[in-house]
Amino acid sequence: MAKNILVIGGVGYIGSHTVLQLLLGGYKTVVVDNLDNASEIAVAKVKELAGYQGNNMTFHKLDLRDKAALEVVFAGTKFDAVIHFAGLKAVGESVQKPLPYFDNNLTGTITLLEVMAAHGCKNLVFSSSATAYGWPKVVPCTEEFPLQAMNPYGRSKLFIEEICRDVHRSDSEWKIILLRYFNPVGAHPSGKIGEDPRGIPNNLMPFVTQVAVGRRPALTVFGTDYSTKDGTVVRDYIHVVDLADGHIAALHKLDDPKVGCEVYNLGTGKGTSVLEMVAAFEKASGKKIPLVKSGRRPGDAEIVYASTEKAERGLNWKARYGIDEMCRDQWNWASKNPYGYESPNSTN
Ligand code: NAD
Ligand code: UFG
Repeated sequence: MAKNILVIGGVGYIGSHTVLQLLLGGYKTVVVDNLDNASEIAVAKVKELAGYQGNNMTFHKLDLRDKAALEVVFAGTKFDAVIHFAGLKAVGESVQKPLPYFDNNLTGTITLLEVMAAHGCKNLVFSSSATAYGWPKVVPCTEEFPLQAMNPYGRSKLFIEEICRDVHRSDSEWKIILLRYFNPVGAHPSGKIGEDPRGIPNNLMPFVTQVAVGRRPALTVFGTDYSTKDGTVVRDYIHVVDLADGHIAALHKLDDPKVGCEVYNLGTGKGTSVLEMVAAFEKASGKKIPLVKSGRRPGDAEIVYASTEKAERGLNWKARYGIDEMCRDQWNWASKNPYGYESPNSTN
């Protein structure tokens, strides 16, 4: 019997890629999203890419904090597990407007946990973040490292992790996998789905991409005086399809009767500097990215990359793609959809 998975925030960047991998893997999915930071076109694209398995997906436009509406979704289907991506994620905005971040991320999660418990579904996979490591003293980051929030967004992730640990302590029927993502980039190789940020992109690769398609004149490099190989910060970039597959591995893990509330890094274990990433993108796209050197961005840690051992052992999962494939697929998506899902001349 195919398993039923509820995917909250499943129209967004990581969610849409995960829903596609779920469908292709034979799962049935119910997707919930308020479309606050996503386009409904992504739902149609995922359905199309999944072929006949696309019929195994239904979509509900609703806000996670709308408990009554969520109850209706749970009343309609018995879910084997929930994957919870929904949240606000712009670090800078969270500093300016902390309360909407805590309301959306915390209230949403608490509402979800309450409704899950009421319907006897106690299997959860949650999107946490490498931001939980703050500015790590050493690398690679292992899951046992001390946690540190650098901003309200990061704090919301730490709070939710703690809430999940407490919920599991209170009732051992809960099985919860907390996935700490490193830096997701790239797109599905078809070029039909990808990241489509609203407004000025906060993250490196969406910004680079918008320079390449002519939407912005140059990339501002925040900080060239770090103690790294070329002075720019080092991150662990991971292909979004690898990340999506990590969620399928986490679902398999939930079948293990010994699972309680566990945390896993999803990264590649490799550190890449900003300038190395720009060079890889230039090679993949054939486009020159003009650079403007600028001061450090407040709150940026110098070097962050993952220890991948625990995920390799515990989830039997390992990232397959490197930065060349990430940049190739990022460019494939962007060149076909220079204005994202709403591109007037989309070749999709
Ligand atoms: P995204 O914004 O593309 O996706 C999140 C989705 O959740 C969006 O489709 C949005 O419309 C939806 N959503 C938000 N609040 C909601 C609510 N109250 N009710 C229903 N739907 C709601 O972001 P993403 O990059 O796909 O990230 C997914 C998750 O992974 C987030 O929780 C994010 O914090 C986490 N994460 C992302 C990154 C990253 O760099 N992209 C890194 C680490 C962790
Ligand atoms: N950067 C630039 N110019 C830009 C954008 C980014 O130089 O226009 C630099 C940043 O200063 C940083 C590096 O590129 O040095 C990477 O920045 P990102 O914003 O792409 O990635 P972060 O590691 O800072 O943060 C991202 C998400 C967080 C998440 C974290 C997980 O924004 O939500 O990855 O590691 F928690």
